[in-house]
Amino acid sequence: MTRALIVDRNDAGDIITEVREVGEEFLGEGDLLIDVAYSSLNYKDGMALEGNPGVVRNLPVIPGIDVVGTVVESDSGRFAPGDVVVLNGAGLGERRHGGYTERLRIESASTIQVPALFTAEQAAAIGTAGFTAALSVDALLQQGLQPEDGEILVTGATGGVGSVAIHLLTQLGFRPVALTGRVAEHGDYLRGLGAVEILDRAELAEPGRPLQQTRWAGVVDAVGSHTLVNALAQLQWGGVATACGLAHGPDLPGTVLPFILRGVHLIGINSVDAPLALRERAWALLAEQLDTSVLEGFTEVLTLEEIAAAGTALLSGRRHGRAVVRPQA
Ligand SMILES: NC(=O)c1ccc[n+]([C@@H]2O[C@H](COP(=O)([O-])OP(=O)(O)OC[C@H]3O[C@@H](n4cnc5c(N)ncnc54)[C@H](OP(=O)(O)O)[C@@H]3O)[C@@H](O)[C@H]2O)c1
Repeated sequence: MTRALIVDRNDAGDIITEVREVGEEFLGEGDLLIDVAYSSLNYKDGMALEGNPGVVRNLPVIPGIDVVGTVVESDSGRFAPGDVVVLNGAGLGERRHGGYTERLRIESASTIQVPALFTAEQAAAIGTAGFTAALSVDALLQQGLQPEDGEILVTGATGGVGSVAIHLLTQLGFRPVALTGRVAEHGDYLRGLGAVEILDRAELAEPGRPLQQTRWAGVVDAVGSHTLVNALAQLQWGGVATACGLAHGPDLPGTVLPFILRGVHLIGINSVDAPLALRERAWALLAEQLDTSVLEGFTEVLTLEEIAAAGTALLSGRRHGRAVVRPQA
């Protein structure tokens, strides 16, 4: 038996979350059996905790899109018992059981050895949010963007993706500008991460002109909708934006003008199904650039019992930074 947090439906048809002892049927499938040390709390986990059908395909389900743990049994040539591994996405907590449990089977195909530089807790603090930030920054670098090209706008700045992206960009010598709905509350936090300027999210939240005064060499966007469209309209010639999220909205109500008149690029980021080579490159970037003391400064540790309330707070924009989840009692 292992302890896990389950999302299910009660007899009245309402979504419930409860911590309970579960058996083998909740281990899931995969060629690695791991003792889970940590999971984490991401925006998508908040949605899963509400039973959002866009995220969780079947109920009951154990949420948790990240898992970090020690291999107990391995049918994979890539890993041996005792290895400390991390898996981000790959359907965890969506189409199969995720990390809010003490023991889990996972597929080795998308699993990475935790870089020696990081503890299990730090790897979980990075989690999908940090991994996605690394994929986004990597995409800018792959397009040849350099610090002297200009400032980089980071939207959803106080969130997990935004926080890690600002830190990574700063470490790489870029000048990130933070767009946030909480300028007064978290301005100092964002400046501490390296943001050179803080903008109120209201500035980009409403429909704007299709081409605007150019401001950015690059954009790391986690919110979508008018925010991303306005950011695209402010990209300089040949600028690059990455899109990973929809905290503002899933729509993209824009025009092709920035693409055909300024040659800008928009690159989609998908952490869930990223191939192994991309995962390894993003984790290598994190190992090279991330300052773990900065990460620890914005990370909180939660128990299984504390996740549901934290998920509600996250979805209503009342949290910032990262939260790791320790399933062991
Ligand atoms: N594509 C992928 O593979 C992938 C991977 C990870 C995450 N995501 C997505 O990326 C987004 C961010 O994830 P996260 O884990 O960083 O979430 P998070 O920690 O909850 O951060 C989201 C941030 O978005 C901002 N925000 C909230 N409501 C907003 C609104 N109505 N309009 C504009 N901004 C708003 C808030 O920042 P401020 O208060 O600073 O404005 C909030 O902190 C989510 O949509 C998530 O689903 C996608």
